[in-house]
Amino acid sequence: MKRLENKVAFVTGGSRGMGAAISKRLASEGAIVVLTYSKSPEKAVAVAAEINASGGHALAVQADSADAQAVTDAVNKTVAEFGKVDIVVNNAGIYIGAAFEDHTLDDYEQIMGINVRAVYAASLAASKHMPVGGRIITIGSNMGDNALSAQTTLYTMSKSALSGFTRGLSRDLGPKGITVNLVQPGPINTDMNPSDTELADFLRSRMALAEYGTVEDVAGLVAFLASEEGKFITGTALTIDGGLNA
Ligand SMILES: NC(=O)c1ccc[n+]([C@@H]2O[C@H](COP(=O)([O-])OP(=O)(O)OC[C@H]3O[C@@H](n4cnc5c(N)ncnc54)[C@H](OP(=O)(O)O)[C@@H]3O)[C@@H](O)[C@H]2O)c1
Repeated sequence: MKRLENKVAFVTGGSRGMGAAISKRLASEGAIVVLTYSKSPEKAVAVAAEINASGGHALAVQADSADAQAVTDAVNKTVAEFGKVDIVVNNAGIYIGAAFEDHTLDDYEQIMGINVRAVYAASLAASKHMPVGGRIITIGSNMGDNALSAQTTLYTMSKSALSGFTRGLSRDLGPKGITVNLVQPGPINTDMNPSDTELADFLRSRMALAEYGTVEDVAGLVAFLASEEGKFITGTALTIDGGLNA
């Protein structure tokens, strides 16, 4: 029997990058996966098709994380279709970098809407249906603990909010047998943070391991937390950053 057999997983931002790798990994371990996307329908459908072609079960659903109601509806659709939701992976996120005085009020709304409010919305909707053994796993960032450089204020603010959310929610849902954790990746080679830029050279120079991680590295940690083996880990942040914050 696979580790996540009979589990239903909901992954936000599953069309590309880490969310795609997490969706594939959870499905390969036996979970039914509902993955959301906003702007990349072809990529999302391709991820779901790849999972289905390899004997798994996945569904791509459009739900813009900027719209809390759309996220709530997508969780409710998952429950209506598959009867429950055991695993939520709050992965969708954006980065908006600029000199602080060049930011707009709208930048705040956008980044907090997608990186924080959507996490709250998905977790809230799922908590009403999540059985014992449930898992809420949010993808934060090593920058939640370490701003690293200028022009990261909004992103750092949004990612550090997730650690308070995770700690509080672990105490609300612990009595129901549900764990809540934050995974904080460092530099991972994706569209958001390609490994062949000047920024990448700077980041490597600050890392203990001096190399970028892969989306599969993060997916492996998420799968561990989602599995029975992760059952005693809750209310905490696990940083997976090649020693950038060391
Ligand atoms: N890459 C890194 O080095 C790194 C480091 C630390 C933390 N993180 C965090 O890890 C998570 C994944 O990042 P990534 O590097 O995989 O990013 P990515 O390559 O840019 O992919 C982002 C994913 O999120 C989805 N997404 C973005 N905005 C969305 C929205 N409004 N509604 C729904 N989905 C949305 C995208 O869907 P569409 O294709 O439909 O736009 C895509 O599937 C993010 O939370 C990010 O902050 C990344």
